[in-house]
Amino acid sequence: MENMIDTSSGSSFVPVEPFEIIVFGGTGDLARRKLLPALYHRYCDGQISDDSRIIGVSRSDYTRSEYHDLITKCYHEFSDDVSFDQNLWSKFLELVYYVKIDVLDNDNWKVLKNNLSSSNELIRIFYLAMPPSMFSKICVKLDKVGLVNEKSRVVLEKPLGTDYESALKINEGVGQVFDENNTYRIDHYLGKETVQNLLVLRFGNILLEPLWSNQAIDYVQITAAESIGVEGRGAYYDNAGALRDMVQNHLLQLLCLTAMEAPASLEADDVRAEKIKVLKALKHITLEDVNQNTVRGQYIGGNKENNIFSDYLTDVGSKESSTETYVAIKAEIENWRWAGVPIYLRTGKRMSSRRSEIVIQFKPVPHSIFGDTPVKPNKLVIRLQPDEAVKLWFEVKEPGAGGMRLKTLPLNLSYADNFTVRYPDAYERLLMDVVRGNLSLFMCRGEVESAWQWVDGILNAWRLSDTSIDKYNAGTEGPDKANDMLSKSNHLWS
Ligand code: BG6
Repeated sequence: MENMIDTSSGSSFVPVEPFEIIVFGGTGDLARRKLLPALYHRYCDGQISDDSRIIGVSRSDYTRSEYHDLITKCYHEFSDDVSFDQNLWSKFLELVYYVKIDVLDNDNWKVLKNNLSSSNELIRIFYLAMPPSMFSKICVKLDKVGLVNEKSRVVLEKPLGTDYESALKINEGVGQVFDENNTYRIDHYLGKETVQNLLVLRFGNILLEPLWSNQAIDYVQITAAESIGVEGRGAYYDNAGALRDMVQNHLLQLLCLTAMEAPASLEADDVRAEKIKVLKALKHITLEDVNQNTVRGQYIGGNKENNIFSDYLTDVGSKESSTETYVAIKAEIENWRWAGVPIYLRTGKRMSSRRSEIVIQFKPVPHSIFGDTPVKPNKLVIRLQPDEAVKLWFEVKEPGAGGMRLKTLPLNLSYADNFTVRYPDAYERLLMDVVRGNLSLFMCRGEVESAWQWVDGILNAWRLSDTSIDKYNAGTEGPDKANDMLSKSNHLWS
């Protein structure tokens, strides 16, 4: 099963081998809110044994027990775990250690070494929840102090660089210490249940495939809308923007899974090869067409349901910024399957609601026999979060008198109605996959670099273009221009 997506059925948990995970950025948001809770949940599920070890690393001064207090407080603050078990949590904390290291100094690496197993048999995971500029430096240091062995893996948290050149440098720097098979580039969207389900929906059912192309599909929309703002991450976000923060990784990964050919198998190399083909077939956006094919916006204050939202500049503490908090793109995949089918991507902060979904808008019937009665084209909505569901919209005859009246109704496969298992956070699955050595749900070097090449084209065109950013009110659907971009082709956002 090495490098294979796990297809075992049921929700039984097969224990993973004992491991030690060293989390750089151990006091940061990601570690406290996501990584430690994810490990705790898998510990409760019996998947992680008591001889595993979790070591938080950061430059803050904490004793082990202060670190325990910190993560306990955070767990209670952010988790809605109704079945919290104090006894299990205390047992879990016995696995958790803390080491203070300033990664730019030479101090304390020995202390870290002393906290690691002396046997070369234990799987050793270095999780770099740190700014990407640190990735290569940490890897080189780990190597120098002799902490990297054959059982070592490195996990790189996004963003993987700020453009193609910087991503290349990171990949080369990290690659000097860890080979590609031991490098896990996380895109947490790939760990979401509904995103994994895209593979099953497309390749576990025969019904969709004959329709899955420009023969029957009019256009595709991929949306990741958020109602939250920059949430205290202003310093990072203002240098990144929505294109780098969401499109380069999450949205392009969703696009790949939606558009790729069936891989030969679920093995990492097969899946990755198909994704790279999609990324390489994306038509580059240039200065000539950037205004027709992209819209970027920034939120200003707004008021929704008695909530008053501040504007972006206040949120990031700046007087001026041209960073986009919203982006919509009309993308095209230049290959036989997708030629002529616009793929609309959009994401934004402080939008009216939180909603991630993929909409496949089918073409109208070639000829209507229903006279003046409008016949709506079919639509498949794959709701990734929240209210996870797959909905297929059909035309149906409305029963009763009054002639042939058509109604549009969905076949609704709602997760809430069909599944009762605990809904795992994306990081749970991904962390366990790192331990199992399963790379299928992680991005390879080629994917990251190809995605940056496409995104760099847009960034450059924006830099050279004379159009300014559009403002939109917080709590709305983003700039009006995004509607205009679609209406020019007689298309509508769902
Ligand atoms: C992260 C981005 O990768 O994804 C954040 O950096 C964003 O800005 C988050 O809020 C969205 O993730 P999710 O799982 O809440 O959709």
